Amino acid sequence: MGGFNMKVCALAACLLLAGQVSSYSMEDLCAQWSGSGYVGNPADCTGWGYCQGQKLVSWNTCKNGLVFNAQTSTCGFANSTICTTSAVATCAAAKSPMYVAVPDDCNKYGYCFGNGTIDYGSCGTGGVYAAHSNACIWGPACPQDSICRFMKNDIFVGDPNNCGSYLLCNNGYGTPGSCPTNTFYSAGSGNCQSTNPCTGGSGSSGSNTGSPYTVGQQVSGVCKDGKAIGSATTFYVSDTKTCYGYFYCTSTTEDGIWNSCLFGTHFDPTPQQCVSPAAYACSLNRCGNVASPFMAVFNTNCTEYEICSSSATNYCPSSNKYYDEVHNICTTKPLNYTICEAST
Ligand SMILES: *[C@@H]1O[C@H](CO)[C@@H](O)[C@H](O)[C@H]1NC(C)=O
Ligand SMILES: *[C@@H]1O[C@H](CO)[C@@H](O)[C@H](O)[C@H]1NC(C)=O
Ligand SMILES: *[C@@H]1O[C@H](CO)[C@@H](O)[C@H](O)[C@H]1NC(C)=O
Ligand SMILES: *[C@@H]1O[C@H](CO)[C@@H](O)[C@H](O)[C@H]1NC(C)=O
Repeated sequence: MGGFNMKVCALAACLLLAGQVSSYSMEDLCAQWSGSGYVGNPADCTGWGYCQGQKLVSWNTCKNGLVFNAQTSTCGFANSTICTTSAVATCAAAKSPMYVAVPDDCNKYGYCFGNGTIDYGSCGTGGVYAAHSNACIWGPACPQDSICRFMKNDIFVGDPNNCGSYLLCNNGYGTPGSCPTNTFYSAGSGNCQSTNPCTGGSGSSGSNTGSPYTVGQQVSGVCKDGKAIGSATTFYVSDTKTCYGYFYCTSTTEDGIWNSCLFGTHFDPTPQQCVSPAAYACSLNRCGNVASPFMAVFNTNCTEYEICSSSATNYCPSSNKYYDEVHNICTTKPLNYTICEAST
C-alpha cells in the first residue's frame, strides 16, 4: 500500500535518492577503499561490484530485476529501493508519491506520482536539489554527487577530488575529513600516514622524487656482480631500486657511480642500455622517469595498468582488455611488447 515508500523514506532511504550521473567507474570506487566488499555500479542500478585490495575483482547484476542497494549491500525490490541511476526507473516502480533526485541534472528534481509516472520541477537559476533534506539549496555543488552514493554505510574512503583526505560514507553521502596536521589519508591502508600518497613520496608519481640516489653518487659493493659486454672494459648495472637508475662501473671492486636514464626510458640490464619502458619488463615502480599517466603492471600480460598519480591499479573494460601503454589505449588484441609477455 501507499504508505510503504513513505515509511522507507522516513527510515532514511530517501537519502539514497538518485543524484548526478556519475563519472566514476566501479574501479574508481574500489581504488578509494581499503576494505573488501560490495559497491554499486554507477552506470546501472541493478549492478554491483566486489572490491578487494583496492581492485574490482568481480561484478554482476541482481537477478529478477532487483535493484542493488549499495548502502546495505543487498538486492531489493524495485518498488522499495531507489534506482540511483534513473529517476524514471525509480518512479516507474514507486507505489506512493515521492520526490527523487534526477541523476543527470541536479538543478531539477523529480516527482513520482505513485502510479508509475514522473514529473519534473526546477530549483531555479543557481539552485540544486538536495535529496537528504528534500529541498532546493544554493549550488553549485550537488549534494548527491559523492562516491559514497555507491558505497556501504559507515566506511571511510579516499576523497577522489582531494587526494590525501577522506570521506565518511553515511546513507549515500560523504562527510569530508582530513588527517591531523602533516599526515595524509592513504586509501590503501585506510589510515593517516606521514608520507603523502598523492605526491609520490613513495616514488610513484611519475617524477623521480623517490629516487634513492643522486646523480654522480658513489656507492660501494654495487659493481661486484656486474660484467662487461664483449670487448668493453667498463659496464653498467641496475640500481635494483628503480627502473631507470644504473651504476657505471669500472671494475667489480670499485664503487659504482649512479646515473639516471634519459627521461622516458628505463634501464635494461641485459644489453646495459636505456630502452623504451615497454621493451623491458621492469618489476619495480614502472611510473618512475616517465610522463605517462598510466603504465602497464608487470606480469599481468598488460591486462592491468597503474594510475601513476595515485599508484592505484585498474583494468581495461573486458571488451578491450589489453592496455597498450605506448599508445595509451585499451585494445582487443594481446600485445607483443616485452612488458606484456608472460614472465616465467
Ligand atoms: C514490491 O514488489 C514485490 C515483487 O514484485 C511484491 O512482492 C511486493 O508486494 C511489492 N510491494 C509493494 C509495496 O507493492
Ligand atoms: C498519474 O497520476 C497523475 C496525477 O494524479 C496523473 O496526472 C497522471 O495522468 C497519472 N498517470 C497515469 C499513467 O495514470
Ligand atoms: C599471461 O598469459 C600466459 C600465457 O597466455 C598465461 O599462462 C598467464 O596465466 C597469463 N597471466 C596473467 C596474469 O594473466
Ligand atoms: C609486434 O607487432 C607489431 C605489429 O603487429 C609488429 O610490427 C612487430 O614486429 C611485432 N614485434 C615483435 C617483437 O614481435
